[in-house]
Amino acid sequence: MGSGMDGEMADHAIVAAGLRKRYRDTYALDGVDLAVRTGTVHGLLGPNGAGKTTAVRALTTLLRYDEGRAEICGFDVAGQPEEVRELIGLTGQYAAVDEQLSGRQNLVMFGRLYKLRPREARRRAEELLGAFGLSEAAGRNAGQYSGGMRRRLDLAASMIRTPRVLFLDEPTTGLDPRSRNQVWDAVRSLVSGGTTVLLTTQYLEEADQLSDRISVIDSGRVVAEGTADDLKARIGGDRVEVVVRDAADLAAVGDLVSRISGAVADVDPDVRRVSVQVADRVTALTEVVRALHGTGITVEDIGTRRPTLDEAFLGLTGGRAAEDRKEVVR
Ligand SMILES: Nc1ncnc2c1ncn2[C@@H]1O[C@H](COP(=O)(O)OP(=O)(O)O)[C@@H](O)[C@H]1O
Ligand SMILES: [Mg+2]
Repeated sequence: MGSGMDGEMADHAIVAAGLRKRYRDTYALDGVDLAVRTGTVHGLLGPNGAGKTTAVRALTTLLRYDEGRAEICGFDVAGQPEEVRELIGLTGQYAAVDEQLSGRQNLVMFGRLYKLRPREARRRAEELLGAFGLSEAAGRNAGQYSGGMRRRLDLAASMIRTPRVLFLDEPTTGLDPRSRNQVWDAVRSLVSGGTTVLLTTQYLEEADQLSDRISVIDSGRVVAEGTADDLKARIGGDRVEVVVRDAADLAAVGDLVSRISGAVADVDPDVRRVSVQVADRVTALTEVVRALHGTGITVEDIGTRRPTLDEAFLGLTGGRAAEDRKEVVR
């Protein structure tokens, strides 16, 4: 790559080209390319075992990659790890919360570790406690915090210095919706301050909510890249589903929804369900309800839903089953 990457990618905070990492018979990373513009949030979206954590560890100097090249703000990750560490924050790793201390004491301690003056450390601690909805719990020992509160305290600690580039590895996995929303808000406010964020997630919705661009990763490879809208267009739109009481009505309902949507309906006799992809879910649902009216068909359930992540990955990986996608060592 050499100097070409530096010039062309000067406005990118994170660049990776052909990153590979092999564990025995698995390529955890199998040639990952990534380019994240400064000041943006980039989602790394993929199922369990896709290689997300390995990518984060490689980019944050915690893991030596076998092949390829990576730069953070123009610093070579393998060649200039000290410089890179100065610029980055990482959840869960640098944020070793002390359970004997209160939330506030933890954050002040991290501030002091990062060489803030006492007054500045206290100010930053209060700011972060507020941003993460921890002000009320600030005086309680972190050991008594719920899982969601602990996660938010971890995040707050990783944001003490306002890193130039922040890596968040599945920051909301296992959190309840309210805690998740608080984490999302905190990420948004951090980004508005100019920090570049690489966020890994298993949730399409989370990547959609937070990211400017998304790389879908599977079996150590980026299988799709683009804005959430780009990806949704590739994944396919919402679906309308109708469950009928009598399996004998399935064919008629299948014809009806196919006619309305212009797409081929999936019919699942086991659960007596017809499902079809639609362009506009409200319009389609209204038309289906209207068309069913007066047919004498008894509908047990009807509604719309987003494609699931499984459907999304199937779409983006060309419909190959997960097993087939696993790389064997060459
Ligand atoms: N230390 C390790 N030793 C062996 N295999 C590993 C190690 N770390 C990760 N892997 C394998 O690499 C692949 C990617 O793992 P990981 O990066 O943790 O995925 P993700 O974070 O997306 O769930 C998985 O198949 C995992 O089993
Ligand atoms: Mg992981």
